[in-house]
Amino acid sequence: VDRFPGPLGARLEALHAAGLHRALRRPEGADLSSNDYLGFAADPGLAARARAALEGVPCGAGASRLLRGDLELHHECEAVLARFAGRDAALLFPSGYQANLALLSSLLRPGDTVFSDALNHASIIDGIRLGRGSKVIYPHADASALDLLLARHPPRPGGSRFVITESLFSMDGDRAPLAALAAAAARHGAHLIVDEAHATGLYGGGAGLARAAGIGERVFASVHTGGKALGSAGAWVAGDHRLKEYLVNCARPFIFTTAVIPALAVLLRAAVEFWAGHGPERAAEVLARAGALRGWLREAGVDLPSAAIPDGPILPIVLGANEAALRAAARLQESGFDVRAVRPPTVPEGTARLRVTVTWNADRETLRRFATALGGVLAE
Ligand SMILES: Cc1ncc(COP(=O)(O)O)c(C=O)c1O
Repeated sequence: VDRFPGPLGARLEALHAAGLHRALRRPEGADLSSNDYLGFAADPGLAARARAALEGVPCGAGASRLLRGDLELHHECEAVLARFAGRDAALLFPSGYQANLALLSSLLRPGDTVFSDALNHASIIDGIRLGRGSKVIYPHADASALDLLLARHPPRPGGSRFVITESLFSMDGDRAPLAALAAAAARHGAHLIVDEAHATGLYGGGAGLARAAGIGERVFASVHTGGKALGSAGAWVAGDHRLKEYLVNCARPFIFTTAVIPALAVLLRAAVEFWAGHGPERAAEVLARAGALRGWLREAGVDLPSAAIPDGPILPIVLGANEAALRAAARLQESGFDVRAVRPPTVPEGTARLRVTVTWNADRETLRRFATALGGVLAE
C-alpha cells in the first residue's frame, strides 16, 4: 500500500501545477544568493579560530538552560553578543526563526496588540500566530500609516502595544524607516521591536540599522542572527536585563528545549571576535560592490524597484510569474551563476523574483559578468 496519504500527494501535485514546487539544490557556481555577506561561512581564518576555541568544549549541554544545561560558555557568548548589539543583555537561540517564535509568542498576551509590517518575515508571522495578542498589519515601511493605525487601535485596559519590523527587508532589500517608526511608536506609547537579521554585521558597527539610525537605545527588543553576515548559525534577542529575565521565564521556545549546543555558543563568539578584525572592511567593500552591480545592471537594461536601497546587499529582480522566475534562474545557473528564484508564499502572489545578493564570495569581475548575463536572459 502507498503509505503516503493521498491528500498530501495531491497537495504536492498542486504545487507542481502552480509552479510552486520546491526541491533541494546544492550550491553550484558563483555565489549570488547566499546571506554569507562577509564570506565568513567558509573563511579559513575563522575556521581555524573556531577549531582552537572548540578544543575541550562538550558536545552537548545535556539539558535545558533552566535545568542543568546552563553553561558558563552560554553566558560568555551572551555577554559578547550583547556588547556587539550595543545592549545590556542578550539571550541565545539556535536560530532566528526560534528567536522570533520565543520573543513574540511570550510577549503577546490577551489584550495586547502587535502592529506588523506587511512584508515581515515568516518567522515573525509565525511568532505572532503563536502569541495570544491581536495583530494589525500596516502597509510596508509606511510610518504615517502606522501612526494612523496606532491612533485607531488604542491600548486595551492592561494591554501593551508593540510595533515589529525587519530593518533590512530580506526579500526586497529595502530599509524600514526606523527613526520615523520609533517616533510613531513613542508618540503612542508602543514598544518597538526590530529584526536585524540581514543588517547585523553590515551596519551600525555590526549592531544593525537601528544603531546606524541613532535609535538603538529606543528599541525595546532586537533580533540578530548568526547565520547570515556572521557566517555561522544561531541568533540572539538583545535588550535590557528585564527583557532577558522575562524571556527566560515566559518564552516556551526557550524553556522547553535543550540548551543551545555548546559548539554554537563558542563559534558565534569566535565569529563576533573575528568580525572586529575583518567585518568593517569587508562590509564596506560588499556594499561598494552592490553599488557597482546596480550600475552594471542598469547598463544591461535590468529594472530595479525604485525602493531598493542604493547600497544594500540584496537586489530583488521582480519578474512576476513563478515560471518566469524559475526559467531565468535556471538559465543563469547554466551559465555558472548560483541565483535562486523566490516564489510565494515567501513573497506576495504575482511578485516571484530572483533574489540576488552581493557577498564577499563574488568579486567585481564576477558581478560584472553576471549583470551582462542577466541582461541577456531578461531580454529573451
Ligand atoms: C528577517 C529574518 N528574520 C529571521 C530569520 C530567521 O533566521 P534563521 O535563519 O537564523 O532562522 C530570517 C532568515 O531566515 C530573516 O530573514
